[in-house]
Amino acid sequence: MNLRHTFLVTLMLGLPKRSFGEDKSNNVCPTFEDYYTIKNNSRCWYDFSAEFDCPTVIRLNGYPVIEYRVPTSDGFILTMFRIPPKKSTAPKYPVYLQHGLSSTSDYFVSIKRNSLAFVLADAGFDVWLGNYRGTRYSQTHQNLTVFDPEYWDHSMDDIITYDYPALFSTILSNTNSNGKIVYIGHSLGTTLGLMYTAEYPDIAKNNLQMMIFMSPAYTLTNMKAPYKLIAPFGPAIMNIAQELKLLRILSQEAITSGVFRVVCLESPPLMQLCMQLNNLFWGPNTQFTADLIPTYFNHIPGGTSLKILNHAADLVLGNFRKYNYIEDNYKYYGRLTPPVYDIKKMQVPVYIYYSTQDWATTELDALNLWQQLPKAAQLGIRRIDLPAFNHLDFVYSRNAKNIVYDELVQVINKFIKSYICIISKFKTKETEF
Ligand SMILES: *[C@@H]1O[C@H](CO)[C@@H](O)[C@H](O)[C@H]1NC(C)=O
Ligand SMILES: *[C@@H]1O[C@H](CO)[C@@H](O)[C@H](O)[C@H]1NC(C)=O
Repeated sequence: MNLRHTFLVTLMLGLPKRSFGEDKSNNVCPTFEDYYTIKNNSRCWYDFSAEFDCPTVIRLNGYPVIEYRVPTSDGFILTMFRIPPKKSTAPKYPVYLQHGLSSTSDYFVSIKRNSLAFVLADAGFDVWLGNYRGTRYSQTHQNLTVFDPEYWDHSMDDIITYDYPALFSTILSNTNSNGKIVYIGHSLGTTLGLMYTAEYPDIAKNNLQMMIFMSPAYTLTNMKAPYKLIAPFGPAIMNIAQELKLLRILSQEAITSGVFRVVCLESPPLMQLCMQLNNLFWGPNTQFTADLIPTYFNHIPGGTSLKILNHAADLVLGNFRKYNYIEDNYKYYGRLTPPVYDIKKMQVPVYIYYSTQDWATTELDALNLWQQLPKAAQLGIRRIDLPAFNHLDFVYSRNAKNIVYDELVQVINKFIKSYICIISKFKTKETEF
Protein backbone atom coordinates (compact mmCIF):
# COMPACT_ATOMS: atom_id res chain seq x y z
CA MET A 1 0.00 0.00 0.00
CA ASN A 2 1.31 3.41 -0.87
CA LEU A 3 1.15 5.48 2.26
CA ARG A 4 3.35 8.15 0.85
CA HIS A 5 0.49 10.37 -0.11
CA THR A 6 -2.26 8.96 1.91
CA PHE A 7 -2.67 11.90 4.14
CA LEU A 8 -4.93 12.27 6.78
CA VAL A 9 -5.91 14.60 9.38
CA THR A 10 -9.24 15.78 10.21
CA LEU A 11 -10.27 18.37 12.64
CA MET A 12 -13.58 17.13 13.78
CA LEU A 13 -15.77 18.85 16.23
CA GLY A 14 -18.84 17.33 17.69
CA LEU A 15 -21.66 19.66 18.49
CA PRO A 16 -22.58 20.01 22.13
CA LYS A 17 -24.48 16.92 23.09
CA ARG A 18 -27.70 18.37 24.35
CA SER A 19 -31.13 17.28 23.44
CA PHE A 20 -33.55 19.79 22.09
CA GLY A 21 -35.52 21.93 24.46
CA GLU A 22 -33.64 20.77 27.51
CA ASP A 23 -32.13 24.07 28.50
CA LYS A 24 -32.85 27.43 27.01
CA SER A 25 -30.68 29.54 29.27
CA ASN A 26 -28.75 32.40 27.70
CA ASN A 27 -25.98 31.33 25.36
CA VAL A 28 -25.17 34.52 23.42
CA CYS A 29 -24.53 38.17 24.33
CA PRO A 30 -24.14 41.37 22.31
CA THR A 31 -20.65 42.32 23.60
CA PHE A 32 -17.60 40.58 25.03
CA GLU A 33 -18.19 42.24 28.43
CA ASP A 34 -21.74 40.93 28.65
CA TYR A 35 -20.48 37.35 28.47
CA TYR A 36 -19.01 37.74 32.00
CA THR A 37 -22.51 37.79 33.44
CA ILE A 38 -24.29 35.75 30.76
CA LYS A 39 -26.40 33.71 33.19
CA ASN A 40 -28.44 36.55 34.63
CA ASN A 41 -27.64 39.34 32.17
CA SER A 42 -30.85 40.68 30.67
CA ARG A 43 -28.98 41.84 27.57
CA CYS A 44 -28.08 38.23 26.69
CA TRP A 45 -30.43 35.68 25.16
CA TYR A 46 -30.84 32.12 23.92
CA ASP A 47 -29.99 31.39 20.26
CA PHE A 48 -30.68 27.85 19.04
CA SER A 49 -28.36 28.42 16.05
CA ALA A 50 -25.45 28.14 18.49
CA GLU A 51 -26.58 24.74 19.74
CA PHE A 52 -27.74 22.49 16.96
CA ASP A 53 -26.73 20.84 13.71
CA CYS A 54 -27.85 21.97 10.26
CA PRO A 55 -31.11 20.01 9.83
CA THR A 56 -32.27 20.90 13.36
CA VAL A 57 -31.50 24.58 12.85
CA ILE A 58 -33.50 24.48 9.60
CA ARG A 59 -36.49 22.94 11.40
CA LEU A 60 -36.27 25.32 14.35
CA ASN A 61 -36.39 28.21 11.89
CA GLY A 62 -39.71 26.83 10.70
CA TYR A 63 -38.70 25.22 7.40
CA PRO A 64 -39.12 21.64 6.26
CA VAL A 65 -35.92 19.68 5.64
CA ILE A 66 -35.19 16.47 3.76
CA GLU A 67 -31.94 14.60 4.22
CA TYR A 68 -30.35 12.73 1.29
CA ARG A 69 -27.62 10.12 1.57
CA VAL A 70 -25.70 10.31 -1.67
CA PRO A 71 -23.26 7.51 -2.62
CA THR A 72 -20.32 8.41 -4.85
CA SER A 73 -18.81 6.02 -7.39
CA ASP A 74 -15.67 5.71 -5.22
CA GLY A 75 -17.50 4.61 -2.11
CA PHE A 76 -18.14 7.77 -0.11
CA ILE A 77 -21.58 8.52 1.25
CA LEU A 78 -22.37 12.21 1.39
CA THR A 79 -25.17 13.98 3.21
CA MET A 80 -27.11 16.68 1.41
CA PHE A 81 -29.92 18.70 2.99
CA ARG A 82 -32.85 20.08 1.06
CA ILE A 83 -35.32 22.76 1.99
CA PRO A 84 -38.11 21.81 -0.40
CA PRO A 85 -40.19 24.65 -1.85
CA LYS A 86 -43.65 25.45 -0.59
CA LYS A 87 -46.34 24.07 -2.83
CA SER A 88 -47.44 26.42 -5.58
CA THR A 89 -47.90 26.42 -9.30
CA ALA A 90 -44.79 28.30 -10.35
CA PRO A 91 -41.78 26.18 -11.30
CA LYS A 92 -39.22 25.90 -8.51
CA TYR A 93 -35.61 26.12 -9.48
CA PRO A 94 -33.03 24.12 -7.60
CA VAL A 95 -30.28 26.18 -6.01
CA TYR A 96 -27.21 24.35 -4.77
CA LEU A 97 -25.17 25.98 -1.98
CA GLN A 98 -21.50 25.03 -1.67
CA HIS A 99 -19.69 25.90 1.55
CA GLY A 100 -16.02 26.84 1.76
CA LEU A 101 -12.92 25.34 3.30
CA SER A 102 -13.29 23.59 6.64
CA SER A 103 -16.92 24.57 6.99
CA THR A 104 -20.19 22.81 6.22
CA SER A 105 -23.74 23.57 5.19
CA ASP A 106 -24.09 25.03 8.72
CA TYR A 107 -22.64 28.20 7.23
CA PHE A 108 -25.75 28.98 5.22
CA VAL A 109 -28.27 28.65 8.05
CA SER A 110 -26.43 30.41 10.90
CA ILE A 111 -28.12 33.80 11.15
CA LYS A 112 -31.80 32.88 11.52
CA ARG A 113 -34.19 34.10 8.84
CA ASN A 114 -31.54 36.32 7.25
CA SER A 115 -29.41 33.28 6.36
CA LEU A 116 -28.82 32.75 2.66
CA ALA A 117 -30.59 29.37 2.61
CA PHE A 118 -33.78 30.88 4.06
CA VAL A 119 -33.70 34.01 1.91
CA LEU A 120 -33.60 31.71 -1.12
CA ALA A 121 -36.35 29.47 0.26
CA ASP A 122 -38.52 32.53 0.94
CA ALA A 123 -37.91 33.66 -2.64
CA GLY A 124 -39.41 30.38 -3.84
CA PHE A 125 -36.31 28.37 -4.68
CA ASP A 126 -35.72 24.71 -4.01
CA VAL A 127 -32.64 24.90 -1.77
CA TRP A 128 -30.01 22.14 -1.64
CA LEU A 129 -27.11 22.23 0.81
CA GLY A 130 -24.09 20.10 -0.07
CA ASN A 131 -21.41 18.76 2.26
CA TYR A 132 -18.36 17.38 0.56
CA ARG A 133 -16.44 14.30 1.69
CA GLY A 134 -14.71 14.50 5.05
CA THR A 135 -16.93 17.20 6.52
CA ARG A 136 -18.88 16.44 9.66
CA TYR A 137 -22.01 15.42 7.77
CA SER A 138 -20.27 13.33 5.13
CA GLN A 139 -17.95 10.96 6.98
CA THR A 140 -19.31 7.63 5.83
CA HIS A 141 -17.69 5.31 3.29
CA GLN A 142 -18.62 1.83 2.04
CA ASN A 143 -15.41 0.22 3.20
CA LEU A 144 -13.38 2.85 5.05
CA THR A 145 -13.70 4.71 8.30
CA VAL A 146 -12.36 8.14 9.23
CA PHE A 147 -9.59 6.32 11.08
CA ASP A 148 -8.21 4.89 7.82
CA PRO A 149 -5.52 7.06 6.19
CA GLU A 150 -6.98 6.11 2.78
CA TYR A 151 -10.19 7.86 3.74
CA TRP A 152 -8.36 11.19 3.90
CA ASP A 153 -6.42 10.66 0.68
CA HIS A 154 -8.54 13.07 -1.31
CA SER A 155 -8.04 16.53 -2.79
CA MET A 156 -10.32 18.98 -4.57
CA ASP A 157 -9.83 16.89 -7.75
CA ASP A 158 -11.78 14.06 -6.12
CA ILE A 159 -14.60 16.33 -5.00
CA ILE A 160 -15.29 17.58 -8.51
CA THR A 161 -14.80 14.16 -10.08
CA TYR A 162 -16.82 12.02 -7.66
CA ASP A 163 -18.85 14.17 -5.28
CA TYR A 164 -20.29 16.64 -7.77
CA PRO A 165 -21.67 14.14 -10.31
CA ALA A 166 -23.36 12.24 -7.45
CA LEU A 167 -24.78 15.36 -5.79
CA PHE A 168 -25.98 17.01 -8.99
CA SER A 169 -27.62 13.90 -10.38
CA THR A 170 -29.44 13.47 -7.05
CA ILE A 171 -30.75 17.03 -7.33
CA LEU A 172 -31.74 16.68 -10.98
CA SER A 173 -33.52 13.38 -10.48
CA ASN A 174 -35.59 14.91 -7.65
CA THR A 175 -36.55 18.14 -9.39
CA ASN A 176 -38.21 19.17 -12.59
CA SER A 177 -36.57 22.33 -13.85
CA ASN A 178 -35.51 21.84 -17.46
CA GLY A 179 -32.52 20.07 -16.01
CA LYS A 180 -30.51 22.95 -14.58
CA ILE A 181 -29.17 23.94 -11.20
CA VAL A 182 -28.19 27.40 -9.96
CA TYR A 183 -24.85 26.98 -8.19
CA ILE A 184 -23.91 29.35 -5.38
CA GLY A 185 -20.49 29.08 -3.75
CA HIS A 186 -18.60 30.91 -1.04
CA SER A 187 -14.80 31.00 -0.96
CA LEU A 188 -13.45 27.49 -1.67
CA GLY A 189 -16.96 26.64 -2.84
CA THR A 190 -16.25 28.93 -5.79
CA THR A 191 -12.89 27.23 -6.44
CA LEU A 192 -14.67 23.88 -6.76
CA GLY A 193 -17.25 25.42 -9.11
CA LEU A 194 -14.49 26.77 -11.33
CA MET A 195 -12.58 23.48 -11.35
CA TYR A 196 -15.70 21.47 -12.16
CA THR A 197 -16.86 23.69 -15.02
CA ALA A 198 -13.31 23.91 -16.44
CA GLU A 199 -12.62 20.18 -16.24
CA TYR A 200 -16.03 18.94 -17.43
CA PRO A 201 -17.34 21.88 -19.50
CA ASP A 202 -19.98 19.96 -21.44
CA ILE A 203 -21.35 17.98 -18.52
CA ALA A 204 -21.31 21.09 -16.33
CA LYS A 205 -23.21 23.05 -18.93
CA ASN A 206 -25.93 20.42 -18.89
CA ASN A 207 -26.16 20.39 -15.10
CA LEU A 208 -25.68 24.03 -14.16
CA GLN A 209 -27.65 27.00 -15.32
CA MET A 210 -25.45 29.67 -13.80
CA MET A 211 -23.04 30.17 -10.91
CA ILE A 212 -22.93 32.89 -8.28
CA PHE A 213 -19.62 33.34 -6.48
CA MET A 214 -19.22 35.17 -3.19
CA SER A 215 -15.58 35.86 -2.26
CA PRO A 216 -14.26 34.06 -5.34
CA ALA A 217 -11.10 31.98 -4.89
CA TYR A 218 -9.23 31.42 -8.15
CA THR A 219 -5.52 32.16 -7.81
CA LEU A 220 -4.91 34.03 -4.56
CA THR A 221 -1.55 35.71 -5.06
CA ASN A 222 -2.82 39.00 -3.64
CA MET A 223 -4.07 37.54 -0.39
CA LYS A 224 -3.52 39.92 2.52
CA ALA A 225 -4.13 37.38 5.26
CA PRO A 226 -1.06 35.97 7.05
CA TYR A 227 -2.01 32.54 5.73
CA LYS A 228 -0.08 33.66 2.69
CA LEU A 229 3.12 33.36 4.71
CA ILE A 230 2.61 29.68 5.53
CA ALA A 231 1.29 28.59 2.13
CA PRO A 232 4.79 27.89 0.71
CA PHE A 233 5.33 25.41 3.53
CA GLY A 234 2.29 23.33 2.58
CA PRO A 235 4.29 20.38 1.19
CA ALA A 236 6.66 20.39 4.16
CA ILE A 237 3.75 20.42 6.60
CA MET A 238 2.25 17.51 4.67
CA ASN A 239 5.45 15.53 5.08
CA ILE A 240 5.69 16.23 8.77
CA ALA A 241 2.07 15.29 9.36
CA GLN A 242 2.69 12.07 7.50
CA GLU A 243 5.91 11.24 9.31
CA LEU A 244 4.41 11.89 12.71
CA LYS A 245 1.32 9.87 11.86
CA LEU A 246 -0.82 12.74 13.00
CA LEU A 247 -3.89 10.97 11.73
CA ARG A 248 -4.12 8.93 14.87
CA ILE A 249 -4.09 11.95 17.10
CA LEU A 250 -5.98 14.46 15.07
CA SER A 251 -8.74 12.27 13.73
CA GLN A 252 -9.92 11.01 17.09
CA GLU A 253 -12.92 13.05 17.83
CA ALA A 254 -12.69 12.44 21.57
CA ILE A 255 -9.36 14.27 21.61
CA THR A 256 -9.99 17.16 19.24
CA SER A 257 -13.65 17.57 19.94
CA GLY A 258 -14.36 20.99 21.23
CA VAL A 259 -10.83 22.40 21.01
CA PHE A 260 -12.08 25.61 19.50
CA ARG A 261 -15.12 25.61 21.71
CA VAL A 262 -13.15 25.00 24.87
CA VAL A 263 -10.44 27.53 24.10
CA CYS A 264 -12.35 30.26 22.33
CA LEU A 265 -15.51 30.15 24.40
CA GLU A 266 -13.71 29.72 27.72
CA SER A 267 -13.79 33.38 28.74
CA PRO A 268 -14.56 36.77 27.21
CA PRO A 269 -10.87 37.73 26.78
CA LEU A 270 -10.16 34.44 24.98
CA MET A 271 -13.23 34.99 22.86
CA GLN A 272 -11.95 38.39 21.88
CA LEU A 273 -8.49 37.05 21.13
CA CYS A 274 -9.89 34.23 18.99
CA MET A 275 -11.98 36.70 17.02
CA GLN A 276 -9.07 39.05 16.51
CA LEU A 277 -6.86 36.21 15.24
CA ASN A 278 -9.71 34.98 13.10
CA ASN A 279 -10.24 38.43 11.59
CA LEU A 280 -6.60 38.60 10.59
CA PHE A 281 -7.49 35.91 8.09
CA TRP A 282 -10.83 37.21 6.91
CA GLY A 283 -10.25 40.96 7.20
CA PRO A 284 -10.24 43.16 10.33
CA ASN A 285 -13.13 45.40 9.27
CA THR A 286 -16.11 43.21 9.88
CA GLN A 287 -19.79 43.25 10.80
CA PHE A 288 -19.36 40.02 12.72
CA THR A 289 -20.84 40.71 16.16
CA ALA A 290 -20.07 39.14 19.53
CA ASP A 291 -23.42 37.34 19.69
CA LEU A 292 -22.40 35.21 16.68
CA ILE A 293 -19.25 33.87 18.29
CA PRO A 294 -20.81 30.81 19.96
CA THR A 295 -22.56 29.87 16.69
CA TYR A 296 -19.33 30.28 14.77
CA PHE A 297 -17.00 28.37 17.08
CA ASN A 298 -19.51 25.61 17.74
CA HIS A 299 -19.65 24.83 14.02
CA ILE A 300 -16.07 25.14 12.81
CA PRO A 301 -13.99 23.49 11.70
CA GLY A 302 -16.29 21.25 9.75
CA GLY A 303 -13.61 18.66 8.98
CA THR A 304 -11.39 18.43 5.93
CA SER A 305 -8.40 16.50 4.62
CA LEU A 306 -4.94 17.93 4.96
CA LYS A 307 -4.60 17.24 1.25
CA ILE A 308 -7.39 19.74 0.54
CA LEU A 309 -5.69 22.32 2.75
CA ASN A 310 -2.46 21.77 0.84
CA HIS A 311 -4.28 21.95 -2.49
CA ALA A 312 -5.75 25.29 -1.39
CA ALA A 313 -2.27 26.53 -0.44
CA ASP A 314 -1.29 26.00 -4.09
CA LEU A 315 -3.85 28.68 -5.06
CA VAL A 316 -2.04 31.16 -2.83
CA LEU A 317 1.15 30.38 -4.74
CA GLY A 318 -0.65 31.40 -7.92
CA ASN A 319 -1.50 27.95 -9.30
CA PHE A 320 -4.87 26.72 -10.45
CA ARG A 321 -4.26 23.09 -11.23
CA LYS A 322 -4.64 19.51 -10.05
CA TYR A 323 -3.03 18.35 -6.84
CA ASN A 324 0.74 18.73 -6.82
CA TYR A 325 2.43 15.39 -6.04
CA ILE A 326 5.82 17.04 -6.61
CA GLU A 327 8.29 14.26 -7.49
CA ASP A 328 5.45 11.81 -8.08
CA ASN A 329 3.61 13.99 -10.61
CA TYR A 330 4.92 11.84 -13.43
CA LYS A 331 3.38 8.75 -11.90
CA TYR A 332 -0.05 10.38 -11.59
CA TYR A 333 -0.15 12.64 -14.63
CA GLY A 334 2.60 11.40 -16.98
CA ARG A 335 4.24 14.82 -16.72
CA LEU A 336 6.36 16.76 -14.27
CA THR A 337 3.79 19.37 -13.25
CA PRO A 338 0.09 18.89 -12.49
CA PRO A 339 -2.31 19.68 -15.35
CA VAL A 340 -3.82 23.16 -15.12
CA TYR A 341 -7.57 23.74 -14.79
CA ASP A 342 -8.16 25.90 -17.83
CA ILE A 343 -11.07 28.18 -16.97
CA LYS A 344 -11.14 29.40 -20.57
CA LYS A 345 -12.99 26.15 -21.28
CA MET A 346 -15.87 26.78 -18.92
CA GLN A 347 -19.26 27.56 -20.40
CA VAL A 348 -21.43 28.27 -17.37
CA PRO A 349 -22.09 31.99 -16.77
CA VAL A 350 -20.71 33.44 -13.54
CA TYR A 351 -21.86 36.36 -11.39
CA ILE A 352 -19.26 37.50 -8.85
CA TYR A 353 -19.59 39.29 -5.51
CA TYR A 354 -16.42 40.47 -3.82
CA SER A 355 -15.64 42.93 -1.05
CA THR A 356 -12.83 45.47 -0.80
CA GLN A 357 -12.44 44.59 2.91
CA ASP A 358 -11.90 40.88 2.26
CA TRP A 359 -8.33 39.89 3.20
CA ALA A 360 -8.55 36.28 2.01
CA THR A 361 -10.02 36.70 -1.46
CA THR A 362 -9.02 40.25 -2.36
CA GLU A 363 -10.28 42.72 -4.90
CA LEU A 364 -7.21 42.26 -7.11
CA ASP A 365 -7.72 38.50 -7.22
CA ALA A 366 -11.45 38.85 -7.92
CA LEU A 367 -10.74 41.23 -10.80
CA ASN A 368 -8.07 38.90 -12.12
CA LEU A 369 -10.58 36.03 -12.17
CA TRP A 370 -13.09 38.22 -13.97
CA GLN A 371 -10.52 39.07 -16.65
CA GLN A 372 -9.51 35.43 -17.09
CA LEU A 373 -13.07 34.19 -17.55
CA PRO A 374 -14.13 33.53 -21.12
CA LYS A 375 -16.47 36.26 -22.42
CA ALA A 376 -19.40 33.84 -22.55
CA ALA A 377 -19.06 33.16 -18.83
CA GLN A 378 -18.92 36.82 -17.74
CA LEU A 379 -22.40 37.41 -16.46
CA GLY A 380 -21.63 40.15 -13.96
CA ILE A 381 -19.39 41.35 -11.16
CA ARG A 382 -20.41 43.32 -8.10
CA ARG A 383 -18.04 45.20 -5.81
CA ILE A 384 -19.02 45.61 -2.17
CA ASP A 385 -17.22 48.70 -0.92
CA LEU A 386 -18.25 49.30 2.67
CA PRO A 387 -16.16 50.36 5.69
CA ALA A 388 -16.71 46.90 7.17
CA PHE A 389 -17.54 43.72 5.24
CA ASN A 390 -14.97 40.93 5.31
CA HIS A 391 -14.71 37.41 3.89
CA LEU A 392 -16.94 35.92 6.55
CA ASP A 393 -19.57 38.65 6.37
CA PHE A 394 -20.88 37.12 3.15
CA VAL A 395 -22.34 34.37 5.33
CA TYR A 396 -22.37 35.79 8.87
CA SER A 397 -23.33 39.46 8.59
CA ARG A 398 -26.92 40.11 9.62
CA ASN A 399 -26.92 42.75 6.88
CA ALA A 400 -25.77 40.34 4.17
CA LYS A 401 -29.41 40.02 3.14
CA ASN A 402 -29.66 43.74 2.35
CA ILE A 403 -26.16 44.01 0.96
CA VAL A 404 -25.93 40.83 -1.11
CA TYR A 405 -28.73 38.25 -0.93
CA ASP A 406 -31.72 40.34 -2.01
CA GLU A 407 -29.90 41.44 -5.11
CA LEU A 408 -28.56 37.96 -5.68
CA VAL A 409 -32.13 36.65 -5.80
CA GLN A 410 -32.95 39.28 -8.43
CA VAL A 411 -29.90 38.29 -10.45
CA ILE A 412 -31.04 34.67 -10.49
CA ASN A 413 -34.64 35.55 -11.32
CA LYS A 414 -33.58 37.82 -14.14
CA PHE A 415 -31.26 35.20 -15.55
CA ILE A 416 -33.84 32.43 -15.32
CA LYS A 417 -36.43 34.61 -17.03
CA SER A 418 -34.17 35.41 -19.95
CA TYR A 419 -33.17 31.77 -20.07
CA ILE A 420 -36.81 30.63 -20.24
CA CYS A 421 -37.36 33.29 -22.89
CA ILE A 422 -34.58 31.92 -25.06
CA ILE A 423 -35.76 28.35 -24.56
CA SER A 424 -39.39 29.16 -25.36
CA LYS A 425 -38.41 31.17 -28.43
CA PHE A 426 -36.35 28.24 -29.51
CA LYS A 427 -39.25 25.86 -28.90
CA THR A 428 -41.69 28.07 -30.78
CA LYS A 429 -39.34 28.12 -33.70
CA GLU A 430 -39.02 24.40 -33.55
CA THR A 431 -42.76 23.84 -33.63
CA GLU A 432 -43.13 26.26 -36.53
CA PHE A 433 -40.86 24.17 -38.63
C1 LIG B 1 -26.07 37.65 38.85
O1 LIG B 1 -25.54 36.51 39.51
C2 LIG B 1 -24.39 36.76 40.28
C3 LIG B 1 -23.86 35.44 40.77
O2 LIG B 1 -24.89 34.53 41.01
C4 LIG B 1 -24.71 37.73 41.41
O3 LIG B 1 -23.55 38.01 42.17
C5 LIG B 1 -25.26 39.01 40.80
O4 LIG B 1 -25.65 39.89 41.82
C6 LIG B 1 -26.43 38.72 39.87
N1 LIG B 1 -26.79 39.94 39.19
C7 LIG B 1 -28.04 40.30 38.98
C8 LIG B 1 -28.24 41.57 38.22
O5 LIG B 1 -28.98 39.65 39.37
C1 LIG C 1 -15.92 -2.20 -0.97
O1 LIG C 1 -15.70 -3.57 -0.75
C2 LIG C 1 -16.44 -4.42 -1.60
C3 LIG C 1 -16.17 -5.85 -1.16
O2 LIG C 1 -14.82 -6.10 -1.06
C4 LIG C 1 -16.02 -4.18 -3.05
O3 LIG C 1 -16.78 -4.98 -3.91
C5 LIG C 1 -16.26 -2.72 -3.39
O4 LIG C 1 -15.79 -2.44 -4.69
C6 LIG C 1 -15.54 -1.82 -2.40
N1 LIG C 1 -15.89 -0.45 -2.68
C7 LIG C 1 -14.99 0.50 -2.91
C8 LIG C 1 -15.50 1.84 -3.23
O5 LIG C 1 -13.79 0.31 -2.86
